[in-house]
Amino acid sequence: MTRIPPLTDLPAWQALKTHHAAIKGLHLRQLFAEDAGRGQRFAAEAAGIYLDYSKNRITADTLRLLVRLAEACGLRERIDAMFSGERINLTEDRAVLHVALRAPASERILVDGIDVVPVVHAVLERMAAFSDQVRSGRWQGHTGRRIRTVVNIGIGGSDLGPVMAYEALRHYSTRDIDFRFVSNVDGTDFKEAVSDLAPEETLFIVCSKTFTTSETLANAHAARQWLLDAMVSSRAVRRHFVAVSTNAEAVAAFGIDPVNMFGFWDWVGGRYSMSSAIGLSTMLAVGADNFRAMLAGLHAMDQHFRRTPFERNLPVLMGLLAVWHANFFDARTMAVLPYDQYLKRFPAYLQQLTMESNGKHVTLAGARADYQTSPVIWGEPGTNGQHSFYQLLHQGTQLIPCDFIGFCQTLNPVAHHHDLLMANLFAQTEALAFGKTTEEARAEGTPDWLSMHRSFEGNRPTNTLLAERLTPHALGALIALYEHSVFTQGVVWQIDSFDQWGVELGKALAQRIMPELQAADRSPLAHDSSTNALIRRYVGIRDTRT
Ligand code: F6P
Repeated sequence: MTRIPPLTDLPAWQALKTHHAAIKGLHLRQLFAEDAGRGQRFAAEAAGIYLDYSKNRITADTLRLLVRLAEACGLRERIDAMFSGERINLTEDRAVLHVALRAPASERILVDGIDVVPVVHAVLERMAAFSDQVRSGRWQGHTGRRIRTVVNIGIGGSDLGPVMAYEALRHYSTRDIDFRFVSNVDGTDFKEAVSDLAPEETLFIVCSKTFTTSETLANAHAARQWLLDAMVSSRAVRRHFVAVSTNAEAVAAFGIDPVNMFGFWDWVGGRYSMSSAIGLSTMLAVGADNFRAMLAGLHAMDQHFRRTPFERNLPVLMGLLAVWHANFFDARTMAVLPYDQYLKRFPAYLQQLTMESNGKHVTLAGARADYQTSPVIWGEPGTNGQHSFYQLLHQGTQLIPCDFIGFCQTLNPVAHHHDLLMANLFAQTEALAFGKTTEEARAEGTPDWLSMHRSFEGNRPTNTLLAERLTPHALGALIALYEHSVFTQGVVWQIDSFDQWGVELGKALAQRIMPELQAADRSPLAHDSSTNALIRRYVGIRDTRT
């Protein structure tokens, strides 16, 4: 990897600082008034997704400088390195090849000299055959009954991607099978998921890249016990459990027949794994053809990211705008606002994708970053959010860039609901950009004393993403768009977007505390005084339960 000077020393960064000082006072009202074509000029389209980024506080110079920054940070080189299977996940010494999961069979992608595309397609074939069997009823449970419920057990990337995709593609999902997702180690999650299920008709998919994650294993053990309580014979596990993992040994040790395991590889990060066999629940829900259409959408965006000049490259533009807002406007959070009820879990999915990838303060060179990295990502579907937190978006003291996502055709026409939904989306981006001055408020008859309360500064940045309709292909393109935008941001911030060391300490401490909670004797605790007192209080009150 070419050695790149610290980010803030780069001339391109310095140039952006100077440029920011010069244009930060500009208002979107002025920018639009001066350029009648702005709404079309600052827009780009790829893989069926139209991105309007004109309502951001940028000029043509801003774009030029941001692209220069991307080049200075070696983005082109890093994209090539990722696609060609180099070990760009430096701290874990791994290749990063989720793009290989959606590559057509004709492509060759080498990892350590071996083409991985054939194995990817072999697993896809097995998934398709299995999903056909389950969906058609040919796969039967231990007592000969067909499967009526699929329960996905997994957490983090082994849950958020699958549940998001299941909800997003529900329109295309079979209604013959019910899908549930258990992630939390809180027993309530498991109990509520299975309380009304018939074990003879239930299939569990245990999803875990490592097959060591304590929450997933605890839930998988609970599921096996629940099944065996009803079925007695341990042979039943074979018909009611499948696993998705990279760890065949641990799967076998758990008692799942390796024949019922779908594999993937260490070059697929957990939060980038929903297009691998981790998506088995998605395929069971929507069928192999729709799953393949989703992969095609992902691939179309992958190709666009790989080959398109940065000025017209959607993930690059979105990534650079995120940098612009975080580092030059000090935006600490970013909202993702899908105007589609099917995308209700999309913000939660993006939280892991973005924050586990780029929530880092140590650079690849091992220095402390002296600039902000990932903003906090959050969001809710529109129009619900409008009646909740949009007040702060419009009139709060913080600048919160927003991504609005909408579709031109609804999957569920109901009277004029879709026009109403989209009218709200367009209105929100317009209001956030242009606001309403105190003069305008007064001209509407607002008394002087109220005019400040009823005015809107505007100048609040938004992107609008518009696609024809929420198809599997469109969902795939949208996911890859955000994946590569996150990568772009990580490259600029000079961090490893593919490790997650920050989750380790809490896991290790929980492992130390667990035996202390279960010990029969009350040996002295050796934590800090707060943790000791909390543990004692918890155990004391827990043990009074009759
Ligand atoms: O704890 C974080 C994490 O490692 C995520 O990166 C990952 O998606 C999740 O846990 C689940 O891991 P696994 O699939 O190995 O159970």
